[in-house]
This record gives sequence, C-alpha cells and structure tokens, in this order.
Amino acid sequence: MSLQVGIAGAGLMGRAHAEAYARNGVQVFAVADTDPERAEALAETYGARAFARLEDMVAAGANAISICLPHNLHLPAVLYCAERGVPVLIEKPHCTTAAEAWVIRKACREHRQAPMVGFTHRFLRSTIELKRRLESGEFGLVELVTDCLVAKSLGPSAPAWYGDRAAAGGGIVMMGGIHTVDRLRWLLGSEVTAVHAVCRQADAGEGVEHLAVVLLEFASGACACLAAYRSPAPGHERRHRYQIFGTQASAACGIDEFDRQQLSISAGGATAIIECSGDDPVSAEVGEFLASLREGREPRPGLDDAEIALAIVLAIYESARTGNRVLLTDFMTRYFPWRLEDQ
Ligand SMILES: NC(=O)c1ccc[n+]([C@@H]2O[C@H](COP(=O)([O-])OP(=O)(O)OC[C@H]3O[C@@H](n4cnc5c(N)ncnc54)[C@H](O)[C@@H]3O)[C@@H](O)[C@H]2O)c1
Repeated sequence: MSLQVGIAGAGLMGRAHAEAYARNGVQVFAVADTDPERAEALAETYGARAFARLEDMVAAGANAISICLPHNLHLPAVLYCAERGVPVLIEKPHCTTAAEAWVIRKACREHRQAPMVGFTHRFLRSTIELKRRLESGEFGLVELVTDCLVAKSLGPSAPAWYGDRAAAGGGIVMMGGIHTVDRLRWLLGSEVTAVHAVCRQADAGEGVEHLAVVLLEFASGACACLAAYRSPAPGHERRHRYQIFGTQASAACGIDEFDRQQLSISAGGATAIIECSGDDPVSAEVGEFLASLREGREPRPGLDDAEIALAIVLAIYESARTGNRVLLTDFMTRYFPWRLEDQ
C-alpha cells in the first residue's frame, strides 16, 4: 500500500509539517482544516486534496496522519486514527490531562498503535551535539541547568485558542515549557523526581499562565531552574537561552529560532563554538516518523516520553496551585498509575 500522508490542521505547524514532508521527498496527499481557505491554500501549495474534516481525509485514503490541531482536539483525532490502524505523528502535548492520556494509552494498546509525539527539540542540531557530548562523559557530573524562554505576548496575530484554557490546557508551560522538560530529561538521561513552581496569569478569566518559574530536581542529583515568560513589551523578540554546568565542562545554548541556534562549550579554560545554523529539526522529526513507517518499528519519541513530559507539566501546575513541592512518584501514583504498573 502506498503512503498517503494527511495533515490535520493547516495552521502554523500544519504548514511546517507539509514543508517537512516535501523536504523528505514525500508529497502530502491531503490536508484537513475546518477553515476552508486554510485547507485549500495549503493543499494547493503542495498539490494535495483539501478536506474540512480529518474523517473525510482518512475516508479518501490518507493512511498516515500528522495531527497539528489545537490541544483539545488531539484526543478525538488520535482515537479516530488508532481505531482505524492509521499511524500518527501528534504535535506536543499529545493531550492535556492524565484522564485523556489514559484514554489514548488504552486505545493505542488495544489497536496496537505507537504514535510519535512531536518533541522537536530532540531533533535540533544543538541538542543532538550536546547529547553526544554529555553521553561521552566530557561534562563530568551535571549539577545545574538554567533555561530561560521569553516569548512575545499572545497578541491578536496568535491563534485565539492559545489563550483559552479549555482548548490549550495551559499557557507557556504547556505550549513551550513541555519542550524544555522533554529536552532536559533526554539530555541528562535522568528522570525528574520533584517539582516546585510559581505561575502567574495576566488576566483573571479562564486564560492561561504567561509566567512560570520552576525548580526541577533530577534523580541524577542535577537541579534545573526554568523561567518562561510571555513578554508584553512592545516589539519584544523571542529569546530562548539555556546553560548546562557540569563538574568538568559547561555549555551555553541559544535557540531563539530553530534555524538560528548558538551552541558553545567551555572546558579547561577554552570555549568552542559549534556551528548549528540553517538547521531544520521539523524535517528531521518527520524523517523519523517516515523511517519508522518504512522500517515497521515504533517511532521515537512516543507515548512514554509524552506521558512523562505531560505529568511534569501537570505537576508544575499542581505545585503552583498549592505552593507545595510535588514529588513525581506520588503524582504519578495518583494520576498516571498505569505508568508504575507497567514498570
Ligand atoms: N513543535 C513545535 O515547535 C510547535 C510550535 C508551535 C505549535 N506546536 C503545536 O502544534 C499544534 C498546532 O498548533 P498551531 O500553532 O499550528 O495552531 P494553529 O491555530 O496555527 O493551527 C491549528 C489549525 O487547526 C484548525 N482546526 C481547528 N479545529 C479543527 C478541526 N476540528 N478539524 C480540522 N482543523 C481544525 C484551525 O483552523 C487551524 O488552522 C499544537 O499542538 C501546538 O502545541 C508545536
């Protein structure tokens, strides 16, 4: 059966996925978006067919789907595809509550599906280079990480659902912080054991947090201090910087834009600059999804990593709400018990 890729959601990430399939030499078969102009415009660019609904796209023959929808629509889309045995690449977060995560886990088990989840930061050239060096032992023991993401406020040009708690499930932590959480777990090769957080919300309604300061403790002994903020300052440029301090070396990395990363490694009194410009991590991510289909294996990262990253984000919210330090094992036992049973 030939591969016929469908893209659900023709917004920012739907466009990025369509471009990434093209760069991987795969012509997208169909695009579905409830906004007909968006669906048609994206379909026309890539010679695909346009549909209003995911269901119609699958009925027409789409047999592998990128889910690039608002967060509250991930669950029904994944279930629909799982029940029909259609493999999916779901944008992060794969869903926004533990209850949804369990429904997805059960359906995927029952229908023997292994979704890929779009943690794009794992495919950044800077992350891959750092991972290689951390695994080689050249950093010694990592003791401290600092990570600061300052994005623009949600202005009128941002999708309205980004600021709607019911649709997005959270603000800058659910949207951007989840990448950081997944990237650090992966880089350090260690699990988060405890979370302490403060979150602030700019408005009093059903909006989402625009500021978070988080302390993560890792099983390895490392501590990470994360700050995430949507700045209302006019003309503010997106800025994302992090530093990793080991007992033998340290790294500083900027990922303001995916194609403009700056990585430097300092060790023994010398600093090396690692060239990472022109990077295209979304194409690399889509490449992994396509390779998993070709090779008949599970894609990485998958549901396990998605559930852990989601649990950490939800623990951050619980800590911010209660003012308490949240122990991840306790949190998992309460909300993600199947993860402990699986071990
Ligand atoms: N990996 C990354 O770096 C990255 C960056 C930004 C966003 N994201 C993720 O990508 C996903 C989509 O975010 P986005 O920024 O592209 O949002 P977006 O609002 O730009 O796009 C979502 C699209 O879905 C469409 N839509 C809404 N309801 C629909 C339905 N029922 N059926 C079909 N289409 C429907 C909307 O019309 C819109 O075009 C989210 O999970 C988000 O967190 C990932």
